[in-house]
Amino acid sequence: MPLAGERDRRVLELHERLLEIEQRLIATGLHVFGRASNREQCADLLRMVASFDRPEHGARSLIDLIAEGLGLRHELAPGDNGDQRLTEAHARALERVDTVARESIRRFIESNAGDAVLWLEAEANVRAEESRPVFALLEKVYAQLQTNEELDSLARALRGEYVEPGPGADVVQNPSVLPTGRNTHAVNPYAIPSATAYARAEPVVNQLLARHVSEHGRHPRALAFVLWGLDNIKTQGEGVAQALHLLGVRPVRDAMNRVADVEVIPLEELGRPRIDVVMTVSGIFRDLFAATTLLLDRAVRRVAALDEPSELNYVRANILAQAEEGDCDFDAACLRVFSNAPGSYGTNVNFLVSSSEWEHESALGDLFVRRKCFAYGRDARGRALEGREAPCAMRRALARVEATYQNVDSFEIGITDVDHYFEYLGGVTKAVEQHAERRPAIYLSDALAREARVRSLEETVRLETRAKTLNPKWYEGMLRHGFRGVAEIENRVTNTFGWSATAGAVDDWVYGEVAETFVLDEEMLRRLSELNTHSARALVGRLLEAEGRGYWAADEATVARLREILAGLEDRLEGVA
Ligand code: BEZ
Ligand code: MG
Repeated sequence: MPLAGERDRRVLELHERLLEIEQRLIATGLHVFGRASNREQCADLLRMVASFDRPEHGARSLIDLIAEGLGLRHELAPGDNGDQRLTEAHARALERVDTVARESIRRFIESNAGDAVLWLEAEANVRAEESRPVFALLEKVYAQLQTNEELDSLARALRGEYVEPGPGADVVQNPSVLPTGRNTHAVNPYAIPSATAYARAEPVVNQLLARHVSEHGRHPRALAFVLWGLDNIKTQGEGVAQALHLLGVRPVRDAMNRVADVEVIPLEELGRPRIDVVMTVSGIFRDLFAATTLLLDRAVRRVAALDEPSELNYVRANILAQAEEGDCDFDAACLRVFSNAPGSYGTNVNFLVSSSEWEHESALGDLFVRRKCFAYGRDARGRALEGREAPCAMRRALARVEATYQNVDSFEIGITDVDHYFEYLGGVTKAVEQHAERRPAIYLSDALAREARVRSLEETVRLETRAKTLNPKWYEGMLRHGFRGVAEIENRVTNTFGWSATAGAVDDWVYGEVAETFVLDEEMLRRLSELNTHSARALVGRLLEAEGRGYWAADEATVARLREILAGLEDRLEGVA
């Protein structure tokens, strides 16, 4: 490629990355119970709500309407492999459409829906009949964002009075979660996955597999899949649907719309091999979705029994190979749905990481298997396993895994916001690394993108670091909460560290810039230590731990300075300074 072409490509790539960070929805503070969102927060949320098709409100995506109105539909269409095309036209179109969308929302908030509709018609050729339903929906959402009955509802609940029910999801996924302060209800677990969830699963699975093929030259023979309960409530089972799709089966419903069974998709129709899926389901998933847990196990057994060539049915091929290894029969080799022992929850990998009381990373993978090696489903004779302890079967299944994956569905919580992503996806990744004796590829899907989008873990950590941890909008928003805000910053750094410990997925610069931003900047250090000395100390300690464990190659002067600061903070905590 000529030099200028290569340079242009790089500039474009950088431009796209910056846009991605800029357009990412982030929390700019904690929710204060009983307090409604302010205007600025509302504008961001409304823009996200408006960017999706809402057939139930007769509203199309505002982004699509604007793109069509401006004649930019073609530029914004995904490329052949489902990925966004990296062209200047695409980048410009994206920016232009975003600017118009933001301005229309600004007019809506500062004036009214009618004004926004007229402006869009004049400015972007969006027909009023098309944009009116969008703004009608936004009017409702905006009004509900500005009211808040959380305190009243809590008081009613405490008095044992009736609290109106409402669905549980995030506001972008389902605007009818508003108003907040209602009694959250879940889903009908027997209807999981919904038809919509199954339809949405296919492009994500295709992208996940395409990404693996492009990076490793072929499909993963086995994939370790994390399934959580709350996520599958919010998405009506998108994760479950993806797992079924990977296996090459589809749900079969009975007359009551319950998912009663699965049906095998013929290989000719599937057009790719059936992927072996080793599922780790959370304790919450196991409790909420007992029937689904059995269904997933049944799907694996159904696929394992198919008379198909091993190069097109990795499930059967792996199970046969596993059974031949000697210490388990075909039936035990079929175990693919693992969770905690009955009544137990969590991997505890997060607690072990945050306590720093581990020497080798293998302790993290061992703990994961110890906590999550309880198999669910039915054996060949139809007897319920009910959490049979099966560490050996789990290790053998994990030993064949080439990629680990979790469907991240929430607009509200990302992989460094809480410790649960690294305890699960990180935990299983470390276990795979130990038993397969190689590090798997690690992927996450991103529901924040309008089109199906799969990122590597490394990319996701970078994105969260840029969009949140190091973003003044994020940390200043947190610091407005004083003591708690500092704790949130420290938590995020520890959660990021969790991705080093379990998956080696954090670049050096992340720790370097965290140190520069929060510790080596004197004014910031003063603010943090005055607001919350304890968390400031923990943050500095974590950075030193990252250096000590080899996750961060800091220079000697930096390490010395951090040690000095740590000593100062400890003195302050002990009342010496
Ligand atoms: C779940 O919804 O299954 C879940 C929630 C929090 C942590 C882990 C799992
Ligand atoms: Mg928790």
